[in-house]
Amino acid sequence: MTNDKGPIVRLLLIGDVVGKPGRQIIGRALAGLVLRERLDLVVVNAENAAGGSGLTPQIYRELMAAGVDAITLGDHIYKRREINPVLEREANIVKPANFPPHAPGREFMIVPARNGVSVAVISLLGRVFMRPVDCPWTAADRVLAKLPPEIKVILVDFHAEATSDKQLMARHLDGRVTAVLGTHTHVPTADEAVLAGGTAFQCDVGMTGPYDSILGRRVDRVLETTLTFNPTHFEVATGDVRLCGTIVDADPTTGRALGIKRLRVDTKEAEELATLA
Ligand SMILES: [Fe+2]
Ligand SMILES: [Fe+2]
Repeated sequence: MTNDKGPIVRLLLIGDVVGKPGRQIIGRALAGLVLRERLDLVVVNAENAAGGSGLTPQIYRELMAAGVDAITLGDHIYKRREINPVLEREANIVKPANFPPHAPGREFMIVPARNGVSVAVISLLGRVFMRPVDCPWTAADRVLAKLPPEIKVILVDFHAEATSDKQLMARHLDGRVTAVLGTHTHVPTADEAVLAGGTAFQCDVGMTGPYDSILGRRVDRVLETTLTFNPTHFEVATGDVRLCGTIVDADPTTGRALGIKRLRVDTKEAEELATLA
């Protein structure tokens, strides 16, 4: 795609896919979205894709068949151990780069966009209200230093709880990466912007799954456990399913972001998109 400034590459990061409802709306909407939005690369955070927690090889293949190009994960990465060989073998899926070196998976990936541009994707995990991991800021520096110099377009999925940490990461990387987009809270934020150095930023791109829920799980179950301390099975909810993500336009020669746009697709729009593909 081009605009008046020349060629651009258009990236979409889809936020945490929760269980079957999340996978189904991707299956219905994504091919049409790629056409309508003229997307060059689709990255999905799939840490909740298998029953609300983790990812399986079968679901990895299902997402690929739906048109996903690359996968990031998060704190639930190893909930389904059968994904580990996929993490070791496949070139389009990454672990958080601030995990231990021996944790299964690669610390960055370089994936081809539909228009031929090579895009680096890095996942990082936050440390506030989460399991302790290595410093995400120094991990970002370390991985960026390893990227081949010809790689200009770089997407960072910062999977973290604290909005302040996400803002700090975006400022730390401003001018060095194309986008710092947040995942993990499952709640989309309205703070999307292109920072002074040319990095697109948003605290959280939101969840892809049922919004009539507590972060994707049945309200009654979470409420019962919260009120009584009685453990219940936090089943994936079913109501008000939405696909949420964020689109970033980038200059492939400089890697600078040219624009950022929030995306929210409900089931009605997903069915309309299904007719386009
Ligand atoms: Fe999540
Ligand atoms: Fe998470």
